[in-house]
Amino acid sequence: MTLHTPIRIGSYTTKGNLFLAPVAGYSDAAFRSVCADAGCDLAFTEMVSSEALTRGSDKTEVLLERAENESEYAVQLFGSDPATMARAAELVARRWKPALIDLNCGCPVPKIVKTGSGSALMKDPKRIESIVRAMTEAVGLPITAKIRLGWDEESINYLEAGAAAVSGGAQALTLHARTRAQGYAGRADRSAFSRLAAALPVPVFASGDLFSPEDALDILGGDGKGPRAAGVMFARGVMGDPFIFTRTLALLRGEPEPQITPAMKLAAARKHFALSLRFYSEHSACVEFRKQACSYLKGVRGGAELRARAVACVTPDDYEEFFLRWEQAVS
Ligand SMILES: Cc1cc2nc3c(=O)[nH]c(=O)nc-3n(C[C@H](O)[C@H](O)[C@H](O)COP(=O)(O)O)c2cc1C
Repeated sequence: MTLHTPIRIGSYTTKGNLFLAPVAGYSDAAFRSVCADAGCDLAFTEMVSSEALTRGSDKTEVLLERAENESEYAVQLFGSDPATMARAAELVARRWKPALIDLNCGCPVPKIVKTGSGSALMKDPKRIESIVRAMTEAVGLPITAKIRLGWDEESINYLEAGAAAVSGGAQALTLHARTRAQGYAGRADRSAFSRLAAALPVPVFASGDLFSPEDALDILGGDGKGPRAAGVMFARGVMGDPFIFTRTLALLRGEPEPQITPAMKLAAARKHFALSLRFYSEHSACVEFRKQACSYLKGVRGGAELRARAVACVTPDDYEEFFLRWEQAVS
């Protein structure tokens, strides 16, 4: 029996239950494309501003680009005004045709929280309900929400926030099992996934501390304790390692562990960079890819020297040279 299963999210059924989380600065079309190659079932864009989108900002539109091999993707929006969120959802549905649209209720960044968006919404479940309702009424696509445990240790309210989202029409919930106060540190509280799943009539996806195929297996019921969530979202665990999807897929299907060779990793990084050049200006692609290159070099022989080279890359030629050095280091 496989633990890799499709999930029904309202009118949409996913290919499976392994997702790429929305991750600002990482989950763009180029990275989502290499993740799709590696077996990711559904990838989320990074959070996109509903305000910027409805103002027609070009900078925002690049975040919504879709890769050629991405038959479906999910778009995440942030904002705090139900009417603006509804207009943004409408725009996205019409022009980019995602499988679903997700509401961000988890971003801890002060600039975002100050405007009542992101994790500030955890303090106001009624607003979550109004936003989801406005988005649901505006588009014919499933609306989902990504929440945290609560604002801080003293105000854990994910059950209330999840119920509010569902009562507004949300067809699935993702729980990042940390509080806003925790940011990205400390252990995610895995027991919260099953509590939320038991309380809601919609699928719950797990986020937080998913760094290995075994982490995903446990959440999906491979530890014999029953599934805690219907699907899992990799975030920091997939940076520089899209093959975490390939390995997880095999583990969930009970197949032997696939051998990911250094050459496969290098080929993924090369493709990732080549696609970045397609989606961004040459300069921003080169600057932005430095951090990606460093992530790919985790555990690579001669990584320290290669990293020093990567962070100095300014042009595509510099990257060509960098990739050649990497190839020599691993062959
Ligand atoms: C750099 C960074 C950017 C992120 N951007 C977003 C975002 O745009 N939207 C969102 O819902 N979550 C965002 N997250 C949170 C992740 O989706 C995920 O919930 C979190 O990292 C917990 O998973 P992990 O512990 O396995 O990394 C971000 C996380 C990081 C580290």
